[in-house]
Amino acid sequence: MLRSLLLYLAQATWAKSWVMRLGIAQRTAYRFVAGDTLDDAMIVVRNLNQKGMDVTLDYLGESVFDEASAREAADAYVTMLDCIAAEDVNATASLKLTQLGLGVSEALCLDNLRRILTCARGHGNHITIDMEGSDTTDATLDVFRTLRAEGFDNVGIVIQAYLYRSDADLRALAAEGSFVRLCKGAYKEPPDRAFAEKTDVDANYVHLTQQFLSAAHCEQGAYLGIATHDEAMIRAAQAHIRAQSIPSTCFEFQMLYGIRARLQQQIRDDGYRIRLYVPYGTQWYPYFMRRLAERPANVWFILSNFFRR
Ligand code: FDA
Repeated sequence: MLRSLLLYLAQATWAKSWVMRLGIAQRTAYRFVAGDTLDDAMIVVRNLNQKGMDVTLDYLGESVFDEASAREAADAYVTMLDCIAAEDVNATASLKLTQLGLGVSEALCLDNLRRILTCARGHGNHITIDMEGSDTTDATLDVFRTLRAEGFDNVGIVIQAYLYRSDADLRALAAEGSFVRLCKGAYKEPPDRAFAEKTDVDANYVHLTQQFLSAAHCEQGAYLGIATHDEAMIRAAQAHIRAQSIPSTCFEFQMLYGIRARLQQQIRDDGYRIRLYVPYGTQWYPYFMRRLAERPANVWFILSNFFRR
């Protein structure tokens, strides 16, 4: 119920300006966001790299419906990739297709992403396409496959375990030797498309991880980002990796900046590769609301501070 409300508010323009003005909301948001600028983000990247963690940087933004803003977002990614190379830090990039103009036209989005991928390829870097609401899943997979067919092998895609279709999507992507980031899914989805119960989502997450992580897929070049903060999912993946002797070159663990820092360090200390998803920029509202929806305790923290003041 609260999750649904927060996910509805994530899309509500009227709520956005109100929430973004609240000091306590801003302070809580910056627990999950590196800062407003690329310079802020680079400080976090260097710090995490020093602790032995890889990073993927996200320049916050989504649901862009004009061409100029979509092109500006692509410019910001090119600047980010140049900066990563110039500073010689360990970071890839992640992005949303609706930020690059998918809602305007697929052609505009492809044009923008092609430019970003060309820049990334020049620097030997990699881009992962985030997955948004299920009304964009087909278009997102189309864009991914179009660019792979054009020869871009430095692009990966996110798959969400809560969608019924993900079993088939993931099988196909594994056979194609793709780079996939597997997460549970963070959007509001109808029951005819997604598991409604958390236990079903969790069971599917374990099933999909095991299905993707096989020696055969690994040989074909498939790579899995196991993107979760759920210790049960992580333990199940590690048990499967040990039992099937999956090479460490075929997977990594991934988590969001600001969530379960001790667990992140534990995974690193256990000798696994871990990458943190680090967002930055001023457009933090929908990203922040999805983080609240994942853990209602975050909302009570904000409300109790608000009323105490
Ligand atoms: P779960 O929600 O069960 O959480 C497990 C535990 O982690 C909780 O008990 C709590 O301790 C902690 N936790 C989780 N979320 C928290 C929060 N917000 N605040 C504080 N503690 C929290 N989704 C999507 O739809 N499209 C995408 O492209 C991506 N991309 C992506 C990249 C990466 C690297 C990650 C890690 C996640 C995503 N997600 C995503 C988000 C994902 O779908 C999911 O909503 C969150 O990861 C939360 O699910 P968990 O797997 O952590 O499990």
